[in-house]
Amino acid sequence: MVIVYRSDTGYTREYAYLLGKAEKLRVYSLEEAKNQLEPGEEILYLGPLMGGSIVGWKEARKRFAPAGVCGVGMSAPAPQVAENLAQRNETGELPLFYLQGGWAPDRVGWLKRHMVQMVTRSIRRQLEEKGESRTPEEQVQLEFLIRGGSFVSLENLRPIRDWLAGRGAAAD
Ligand SMILES: Cc1cc2nc3c(=O)[nH]c(=O)nc-3n(C[C@H](O)[C@H](O)[C@H](O)COP(=O)(O)O)c2cc1C
Repeated sequence: MVIVYRSDTGYTREYAYLLGKAEKLRVYSLEEAKNQLEPGEEILYLGPLMGGSIVGWKEARKRFAPAGVCGVGMSAPAPQVAENLAQRNETGELPLFYLQGGWAPDRVGWLKRHMVQMVTRSIRRQLEEKGESRTPEEQVQLEFLIRGGSFVSLENLRPIRDWLAGRGAAAD
């Protein structure tokens, strides 16, 4: 199994390489994979979320044999996120993961920045209106929504690493 990813602002790429290093798996961007891997190769696919869709997933699943798939977005992980992802991306029975990546408003074009700002506006407003009564967590969230930031960490990869370990054990 190898890791294949797509990434626009770098967070999914960071996760792909963190995981590759930790699990000693080779890592390819989707473009590299198309040139260097045989069709039908077993992959774990990681892609960024855009409007709930895992970018590159359709292409990756058509060409390769995914054993699992992971969406990387800016929202905090919650059970509802995984359910929506499964439906939206038609992942069926495949193991599906969600990782919180980051938000880089200065690394995306005007239109995309605007789209995200529209979706996050009401939560931003709510947080702004709280003023001094914001909790430290809410303050962090507000700054993240306005200025961006990263939640990428090796720790977040634990569920994927456990799943990989389980697969390895089953194959022994
Ligand atoms: C146009 C657009 C739509 C997005 N839609 C979602 C979304 O539906 N859910 C989410 O959690 N994050 C969403 N995001 C945030 C990205 O998924 C997030 O920044 C991710 O970490 C980007 O990964 P990358 O750096 O590998 O490109 C969106 C970002 C953009 C620019």
